[in-house]
Amino acid sequence: MPRTPFNPDALPSILQGGMGVAVSSWELARAVASAGEIGVISGTAIDSVVVRELQDGDPYNRRAVLADYPDQEIAEHLIDRYYNPEGRAENQPYKLLPIHRFNPSVKSQRVLAAATYTEIRLAQQGHTGLIGINLMAKLKRYTLPCLYGAMLADVDIACIGAGIPMEEARAIRALAKGEATSLRLDVDTSQCDEPADTYTYDFDPADVLSPPPQMEPPAFFPIVSSDTLARILHLKLPEEFVQGWVIEEPLAGGHNAPPRSKEYDEDGTPIYGERDKPNYDRVKKLGKPFYLAGGYGSPEGLAIAESVGATGIQVGSLFSLADESGYPKHEKHALIRGLHTGEVRIRTDGMVSPTGFPFKVLTAPQTLGIPEQYQQRERICDLGYLRTAYVDKKGRIFGRCPAEPVDDYVRKGGDVEDTEGRACLCNALLANVGHAQQRDDEVELRLYTGGDTLLNLPLGSADDPQYTADDVLAYLKKITEPVPA
Ligand SMILES: Cc1cc2nc3c(=O)[nH]c(=O)nc-3n(C[C@H](O)[C@H](O)[C@H](O)COP(=O)(O)O)c2cc1C
Repeated sequence: MPRTPFNPDALPSILQGGMGVAVSSWELARAVASAGEIGVISGTAIDSVVVRELQDGDPYNRRAVLADYPDQEIAEHLIDRYYNPEGRAENQPYKLLPIHRFNPSVKSQRVLAAATYTEIRLAQQGHTGLIGINLMAKLKRYTLPCLYGAMLADVDIACIGAGIPMEEARAIRALAKGEATSLRLDVDTSQCDEPADTYTYDFDPADVLSPPPQMEPPAFFPIVSSDTLARILHLKLPEEFVQGWVIEEPLAGGHNAPPRSKEYDEDGTPIYGERDKPNYDRVKKLGKPFYLAGGYGSPEGLAIAESVGATGIQVGSLFSLADESGYPKHEKHALIRGLHTGEVRIRTDGMVSPTGFPFKVLTAPQTLGIPEQYQQRERICDLGYLRTAYVDKKGRIFGRCPAEPVDDYVRKGGDVEDTEGRACLCNALLANVGHAQQRDDEVELRLYTGGDTLLNLPLGSADDPQYTADDVLAYLKKITEPVPA
């Protein structure tokens, strides 16, 4: 089916938020795009999601998509190594991918590109609407292969936040031309006497496809928390590199920007103030479409966005619990019920995420959002997505994560204080979407996130805890009259 070309002058008013890991699944993105809005999949840890699905019997037939993937050698490798037609036996642990290194193996890159390709292709099925990919700039090791796989599948939009996606904007252009490209790594070199001047993560499209094709770059929407950051990107990047903005405020689900004041109360809750409020006029003056995110998931939110000159709103939390999202049905129904009865609450936790960013946590039973459950988990780091780079005495580059076993983290040169209160988001977020790792008789617990709009959840009810992506869209579009900002 021919795809609708990206047209900055005719963008829909709803941009579905990218939600990792696999919460904004291909199925959710497809439902939203089928309704004429923008559907977005998450690139975060998508390689682990795909290899776990293959081990669970490939419920969505990714093998059929892989059959069309241009790098057939890696497609076959994925199926040979991970596909299990019977699914896993009870209590059988998942086989893991090798951890993606800072000096990466080409094989890890090819696996990630192929996995991302399948997610985009599934999201595109049955409609001609717009599909985007969401990536986190902080996770430098994954961005380039993930983007490349998405571009091979003709992704329409790349939304990149959680960091300053300056180099990523340039990288999109390089990848489209088939050129090798790099992202600078933030590396702790304090243990090394003679560190290099810079460290980079390198990716060459020719390692995936030789010769690499020439492609149209996708539209690029940086996700920023302030008009200042938008202006910096606007000034430093050529005009044609950015097609729109997502302005994300602290009520959003997932990770939030740290407060400008850098102040936290005694529970670790960030204290936001007036300075954290973006100036929409300044964003508007940059002359590009923009979407407001973070607590705008309501008809009133949409009307406010339109009244300040935004194209619309980016909505995550409401979609995260829709039938089509990546959470297993019975678990999201329990969450919807708990939110309606008040059993599930939301707090902004300044400590729990290894990234150091505040993270919204749902206090659902039997999850790491409950302090006793958190205390009981034995630390293990076997996925490594949130590791940060350090160089050892010999000048070799490795990764460490403040949620890994404390002794390991300290042995790798990390500060013991950094480890306090951190949870393994990698394992927890995979558990959220039905891919919990099995460890002897234990299973990894979940940790849900969601924004403040879930507190007065307008959809579903305690008796009927269910709604669809179409219900979210119908609700958001209830009021069309603009209201004053
Ligand atoms: C479950 C969940 C996971 C999220 N994960 C990500 C993510 O991986 N990357 C990202 O940029 N934003 C993430 N977000 C933020 C959304 O993309 C979106 O900006 C936000 O949800 C909009 O505000 P709202 O929560 O008030 O709807 C997440 C939000 C939720 C609810």
